[in-house]
Amino acid sequence: MPMLSGQPLQTSPMNDGDNTNPSDNTHIQDIIDVRLSRRGVLKGGIAASTTALFSGLGLSACGGSSNNRNDTPSLSFDAVAKNLNDVVTVPAGYQVSILHALGDPLTTTDAAWADNGSESADSYNRRIGDGHDGMHYFGLSDAGAFDANRSDRGILCVNHEYVVGPYALHSNGRSAGANRSATEVEKEIYAHGVSVAEIRRGTSGTAMTMVRGSTYNRRVTSATPMAFAGPARGNALLQTRYSTDGTTTRGTNNNCGNGYTPWGTYLTCEENFTNVIGRAAGDNALRSAKEVTALNRYGMTQGRNSPYLWDTAGSDDLFVRWSASVTGASAAEDYRNIFNTFGWIVEIDPFNPNSTPVKYTGLGRFAHEGCWPCKAVAGKPVVFYMGDDSRNEYIYKFVSKALWDAADVGKGHTAGARYMSEGTLYVAKFNSDGSGTWVELTHGKNGLTAANTTYPFADQADVLVNARLAGDVVGATKMDRPEWGAVNPINGEVYMTLTNNSNRVSPTATPTGSQLKPDTANPRYYEDIKGGTTSQKGNPNGHIIRWREAGGDPAATTFAWDIYLFGAEAGAAANVNLSGLTAVNDFSSPDGLWFDQNGMLWIQTDDGAYTDVTNCMMLAAVPGKVGDGSAATAAGGTPTIKGANATEATVRRFLVGPKQCEITGIAMTPDRKTMFINVQHPGEDGSLSSPTSAWPTSQTDATSTKRPRSATVVITRTNGGEIAV
Ligand code: FEO
Ligand code: CA
Ligand code: CA
Ligand code: CA
Repeated sequence: MPMLSGQPLQTSPMNDGDNTNPSDNTHIQDIIDVRLSRRGVLKGGIAASTTALFSGLGLSACGGSSNNRNDTPSLSFDAVAKNLNDVVTVPAGYQVSILHALGDPLTTTDAAWADNGSESADSYNRRIGDGHDGMHYFGLSDAGAFDANRSDRGILCVNHEYVVGPYALHSNGRSAGANRSATEVEKEIYAHGVSVAEIRRGTSGTAMTMVRGSTYNRRVTSATPMAFAGPARGNALLQTRYSTDGTTTRGTNNNCGNGYTPWGTYLTCEENFTNVIGRAAGDNALRSAKEVTALNRYGMTQGRNSPYLWDTAGSDDLFVRWSASVTGASAAEDYRNIFNTFGWIVEIDPFNPNSTPVKYTGLGRFAHEGCWPCKAVAGKPVVFYMGDDSRNEYIYKFVSKALWDAADVGKGHTAGARYMSEGTLYVAKFNSDGSGTWVELTHGKNGLTAANTTYPFADQADVLVNARLAGDVVGATKMDRPEWGAVNPINGEVYMTLTNNSNRVSPTATPTGSQLKPDTANPRYYEDIKGGTTSQKGNPNGHIIRWREAGGDPAATTFAWDIYLFGAEAGAAANVNLSGLTAVNDFSSPDGLWFDQNGMLWIQTDDGAYTDVTNCMMLAAVPGKVGDGSAATAAGGTPTIKGANATEATVRRFLVGPKQCEITGIAMTPDRKTMFINVQHPGEDGSLSSPTSAWPTSQTDATSTKRPRSATVVITRTNGGEIAV
């Protein structure tokens, strides 16, 4: 969602970008400056060197065989115009319906949503949660197993990122006061997490509905028991009063983007967990210097109240665990380490409703946006790409130690333990010449030792719990807020959105604090002018970077990159609208990103810069490939490497959401005839007394005054055909 600030009384200010990287890594601009002065001219230098790089790279082992196509089909719909309407707008020939919204019961026994916040806290263990975000569709066989090819029956897992205050959840919005109401907090704890719901097509058509009362229906919340796996399991850093041996914990929080595994499980990703945990003033004096360094690097400074204030709701363990303050004689007597129990990739087996979700520590701890797998290839490692969504944070990948065996499909957490417990974590460096390096984050290598002066890493668990500090030490490239990633099923290239960054300053400025000069991979500095005044500056509109692994091997340690697309308003100057966007495809702040089975790329926005003109949106794209563009110079004067310009044939707006929403999360049935997208926080700038949206009921009733709610939307063609082609 757009970054909000100075709203401590809101239930969920979210502050997507309020963690900023304070490390002083040598910046990529320094490398450019050196090269510029050495060569005298960069223009042409980039193009020549990248051409050489690209030409040495073959087709990826990662892609190629997940479908029958070797190219992406053409876009076949009429572009949707930008608009500010309070409905989901889709192209002519398409229709929408609502699968589920906040508060809808998963059971047949709980009452329907009453639209007055009267639902009990406990009932949210059986109701759809709030703040719909990432999701994935799993085909469900008659025998109750994962069926990757089934389209008429499935299980949809949906993230519930946060409680959209002050609207829908409580009777009269969030109660005021320094101490929260226990009833309200309990409801919020259960409204976070993930919903798992069986869905089916009807006897005709391709739309789907939720199967209330299905034995597969489940809620995973911020109180659900979970197990740790991987190198940090059992480490002292994960020890709490709940789990004195550091092997288990409770709850998943602020589940933003998502992932999935080749063996048929769901991955949910813990992003802004800083929002639910507080730490008392004076706590530093009760900590080692090393602990304080770690807490501060992740934004958990002492004297920090969480926006949710869950730790103020009473003495019950359900509430006190949200304070990271030292209160006992040891870590086994308090929750000083609670902060370390969040920020992980969590696996849920949708086919086994009683299974215990697992947090895999080997994939590192940071503000995980999502976790996107490469196509699994027999005898090769399983590879996942990940982004840390805060200003100036890093891009990572995990390469499994175990080699893929398709016999593990359907084996749930047993397969998860095999592929996600042991492996190697890498962080990305984007070099100014279009090349890149994956730097290994393994204890004992690359300066990650107990002798390190930035932070003394005790062991591999310490490296993983403090992955950001490890990234600092190895000089990873600070990015403009990495959001979703996606792997092209046709050629294996990897795309990742960089949503925006207000911390970029002019190349001629002297950065202070967490400010950064632009670099070739994050090249923009300009001012977004609204009504004659500067509304935002830095990189307000975001961009999408992509890379091709060396030799087409997902496990490679080098790659070639360019910038696929720059977000911009169509009327912006050419050095801002670098990709040549027009009225049919201009957008700002890309966030959600997904390749469908045909290799069509879907781009979703979470914007606050172009929202004077249009609500957030989703576009469909036929991507090119790394190296199909040219060298360019971004506003502010920084050289960059961009992909081919967008045209109406290659990038086209497919959908515009209702007022003040974010479009996020996407899934499609294997036959490509039923699409799911999520609308998060419609009407987020309003209030109960002064609402600014009535979506989803406004979709069919323009006079509706019902509360706005986050919801999952089902999109089908009226002729029952494949989407977008
Ligand atoms: Fe929750 Fe990075 O968006
Ligand atoms: Ca976002
Ligand atoms: Ca969001
Ligand atoms: Ca997001």
